[in-house]
Amino acid sequence: MARKRVAILISGRGSNMVALIDAAQDPSYPAEIVLVVSNDPAAEGLRSAEAAGIRTAVVDHRKFGKDREAFERALQDALNAERIDLVCLAGFMRLLTPWFVRQWEGRLLNIHPALLPAFKGLDTHARALAAGATEHGATVHFVVPEMDSGPIIVQSSIPVLLSDTKSTLAARVLEVEHRIYPDALRRVAEGRVHQP
Ligand code: GRF
Repeated sequence: MARKRVAILISGRGSNMVALIDAAQDPSYPAEIVLVVSNDPAAEGLRSAEAAGIRTAVVDHRKFGKDREAFERALQDALNAERIDLVCLAGFMRLLTPWFVRQWEGRLLNIHPALLPAFKGLDTHARALAAGATEHGATVHFVVPEMDSGPIIVQSSIPVLLSDTKSTLAARVLEVEHRIYPDALRRVAEGRVHQP
């Protein structure tokens, strides 16, 4: 079966992007990363993608002002030009409109650094510590118009340690993220998981 053509959308560091690129180096992996798009021309992840020989594009949201749909149409054009099958959000910090999400229903994945449905939104590690959570982790899910709310594809937890700070917890969760995102993408690309 042909490998699925995947685009990764980033806004920053891109460590999850690198984990996906690394996994897809294996010719038996069912997806290939053909495009990385950033909304921020300064995103560090763009450099890592270029170093890995992946085509990159910048669709700078600031050029579109408040016109989110115009931004997303430009994004859509970049994806269409590469005949993309699946899109992975990896630290992509723009909220997507229902219009865009519907174009990609069942083909749009996101990773969130918490055990959804707990701790949607930002600053999850500090909030997990403040809540006295004994477990924390990461979730890969299909994207629906409501933020951090789509059907879960893979989730994995770690214990919260008494000694944990926001940054030690974030570092351990990031290791989990790098493990589960390639696993989740594999499952979707192989057609083993569908958005209900
Ligand atoms: C990750 O923790 C991801 O779960 C969250 O933003 C962070 C991005 O990190 N959505 P990176 O850019 O993948 O290194």
